[in-house]
Amino acid sequence: MVINLAFEKIDMDYQSIKVNPLTGALGAEIAGVDLSKKLTNQQQEEVHRAFLDFQVIYFRDQTLNAEQQVSMARLFGNPITYPYLSGVDGVPEAHEIVKTPDDEVNFGGVWHSDTSYKPKPDMGTVLFAVEVPEAGGDTLFANTYLAYNALSNGMKAVVEDLIGINDSEKLYPGGRANRISKLSKMKDSYTDGSQPMQSEHPIVRTHPETGQKGLYVSEAHTLSFKDMTVEESKPLIAFLGEHISRPEFTCRLRWQKNTLAVWDNRCTQHFAVNDYRNSYRHMRRVTLQGEVPV
Ligand code: SIN
Repeated sequence: MVINLAFEKIDMDYQSIKVNPLTGALGAEIAGVDLSKKLTNQQQEEVHRAFLDFQVIYFRDQTLNAEQQVSMARLFGNPITYPYLSGVDGVPEAHEIVKTPDDEVNFGGVWHSDTSYKPKPDMGTVLFAVEVPEAGGDTLFANTYLAYNALSNGMKAVVEDLIGINDSEKLYPGGRANRISKLSKMKDSYTDGSQPMQSEHPIVRTHPETGQKGLYVSEAHTLSFKDMTVEESKPLIAFLGEHISRPEFTCRLRWQKNTLAVWDNRCTQHFAVNDYRNSYRHMRRVTLQGEVPV
């Protein structure tokens, strides 16, 4: 069977896993897989195909400790450490993201693609729900291919050769430590020795595996366009940010305890919703080595 997912026709011929699309834009639940066990070659191939086609995939009811999460993350790429948080004991590639009832600020509560300020931004992210609020704490995702394709030809010509300057501290006047210190649980693992980072990447990025073009710009990290001032760049960065997050380009993942999601930072953005003031949310995160965006 072939389905139309937004502008793309997706081959739904999966034999060893079950794939249930989440919205018409992106996202799919994968069933019939126990990630704590070794997958067959066919399962591995089909899970990887679903990852490329749906950009965000998730698996319910998984039982994974930090080591197993890092090990299954290797299905998608090479797990690496995160520059601003230390890893869990004995497993440096896995780190905890915890928001307690006392914390106001959440981690990732703004549209972004992970670590776009690095010279080689993280290719993908593998997030496991250890503890979730009864309601709230969902994550939104946006399909940046769709956002690019929906631009007018005139706007495509404007953005085609733009280079974005992405800065790790854009949202943190006074430094990351200042903001992170409001996340009481994360303060403990904040690696304050890490330096701020800045990298230049094309605003229109071609995915190395699918060959599709997507927008690679965010209000969270893109400070300005190369050869333009911050003030000159602001309006277009704001327009593109709003455009990428249009509802028809998005999906919303409602977490359950023991859900594991994997997303492709090369063609998506995400936003962790901070709507669970009196609850506890505990996630475990592993990120994957990326390449220089072109
Ligand atoms: C992130 O931005 O990587 C975290 C997303 C989340 O906690 O939902």
